[in-house]
Amino acid sequence: MLDRLDQLEREAEEAITAASDIEELRALRVRFLGKKGALTALLRGMSQLPPGQRPAVGRKANDLRDRLEELLRQKEAAVREAASGARWEKERIDVTLPGSPVLLGRKHPLTLILDEIKGIFTGLGFQTARGPEIESEYYNFEALNMPSDHPARDMQDSFYVSPQFLLRTHTSPVQVRTMELQAPRLPVRIIAPGKVFRRDDDATHSPMFHQVEGLAVDRGVTFADLKGTLLLFARAMFGERQQIRLRPSFFPFTEPSAEVDISCIMCGGSGCRVCSHGGWLEILGAGMVHPRVLEISGYDPQAVTGFAFGMGVERIAMLKYGIDDMRLLFSNDLRFLRQF
Ligand code: DAH
Repeated sequence: MLDRLDQLEREAEEAITAASDIEELRALRVRFLGKKGALTALLRGMSQLPPGQRPAVGRKANDLRDRLEELLRQKEAAVREAASGARWEKERIDVTLPGSPVLLGRKHPLTLILDEIKGIFTGLGFQTARGPEIESEYYNFEALNMPSDHPARDMQDSFYVSPQFLLRTHTSPVQVRTMELQAPRLPVRIIAPGKVFRRDDDATHSPMFHQVEGLAVDRGVTFADLKGTLLLFARAMFGERQQIRLRPSFFPFTEPSAEVDISCIMCGGSGCRVCSHGGWLEILGAGMVHPRVLEISGYDPQAVTGFAFGMGVERIAMLKYGIDDMRLLFSNDLRFLRQF
């Protein structure tokens, strides 16, 4: 009987040592120490023994039970520890590894310029107005005093979507729309940024481009107000040393009209390739709102006056950033866009 206990001990020790997970250990506990386990079975046979041998066998059996309990406990602890170590290894994060780069979006150069223009005029008390990109002939031409034989009304120059509607060729119709909505309240002081469309396509012209229209109407607005506003704009946009120059011009919706130049931002006026050696760069058209336009829009030209201007955003962006091909602004080439 004692030999059988020894044998059972070896067997159990071997099995417990070889076990590699909790389930296996649980099964071993049942197999050796359970109610129907090997040790219990062996002890049942004790009644067959001569009474003198029973105490020794009983003691040995109890020792074996304690020893196996202890072995199982130790092994179970070891198995649990190994499992959590493996999990730790698996979930381990090496915080010294370089991170994966997060790509940041950025603003398109035209958006940057538009934001800047809006900021300057907002600071002067102008509000932002908008109008539709598909415009009626009435607002795009008629209400702006452009007669039906005006060259810009030609199908060759504009995108018509129907006989009476076209993609607006400039932002000036927003002047009329704004005044119509606001009349007779004063002052009117808005800028109108937006897309415009013309049948043009080369290095300096795109079939779609952006303009910012400006309009200020009130009692006593003068040409000097226009000049002052544009000078302030030029200096805020291109630097405090800027000069502007107004040349007489013609637009059907302003009288008098002017084309406005800034001193060349490359050479400062001495003459270079950028300004074709003239020292000046044209950046916008402007003038005093034509009395007919005021009247059509609901204001009394005897009582109020106004100035207006319109500038090309692409042109300003090209000058400011030194871009020589307008198509770069629309080609979505990341090598170009990343530079802003
Ligand atoms: N609408 C004109 C154009 O697209 C630009 C312009 C000229 C706007 C004079 C004005 C202005 O408001 O007064 O060529």
